Amino acid sequence: MARPDLVCTPVRTPMIAPSILAADFARMGEACAGVLALGADMLHLDVMDGHFVPNLTMGPDMCAGLRRAFPDALLDVHLMVTDPAKFITPFAKAGADLCTFHIEAVSGKAADDLILAIRDQGMAAGLAINPGTPAEAVWPHVETVDMALVMSVNPGYAGQAFIEDVLVKTRAIRGRLRADQRLEMDGGIGPKNAQKVREAGCDVLVAASALFGAPPEARAGVIQALRG
Ligand code: DX5
Ligand code: ZN
Repeated sequence: MARPDLVCTPVRTPMIAPSILAADFARMGEACAGVLALGADMLHLDVMDGHFVPNLTMGPDMCAGLRRAFPDALLDVHLMVTDPAKFITPFAKAGADLCTFHIEAVSGKAADDLILAIRDQGMAAGLAINPGTPAEAVWPHVETVDMALVMSVNPGYAGQAFIEDVLVKTRAIRGRLRADQRLEMDGGIGPKNAQKVREAGCDVLVAASALFGAPPEARAGVIQALRG
């Protein structure tokens, strides 16, 4: 069966992307199966290298394991690493559908080349921007990516507080995206602020602690609240 496409649902129907960073790593398969069964649209994999961000998390082997376990799931890889180019082929081989890198890590012609390299490997390309970086940083590339990702926390850890100020920049970025491009927001999102996130134009909502921090029986309600 073909894997779901990034734009498989009508554009701007919010897609929910559980970040497995807050799942129980000893029960990863069970945690992912649970949220996918509840209608989550993709799995969000937070890849950290201990350099671009202070934390270390997961790599291509986690992606490959999830691909084996969930052949039809959309795997959304968020590269919080200093040298994302090094990891494009390993993640493509591991079955990633979407690879997002940070403009703070790679910019200019190297960013254009990286977007092409991601596509050449059969994946969709995403470009992420940190809370403190002005929207202008992504203007040179915003037309060519499949998805923009606005961070609503400083990347590195799950469970941080949502930075509301990023909503202004988010609206500006949405204004520059075509209908076939997605806008993802990541960090501190939960049922209480999801509406603001959607109203700013985001159509992919990442949630780690709001979802996996809730007991399994409450997760359907969380997904519903995030989707609105
Ligand atoms: C943060 C990661 C996020 C994180 C979100 O650096 O990119 O995806 O897991 O966690 P919550 O939803 O708990 O803020
Ligand atoms: Zn993330």
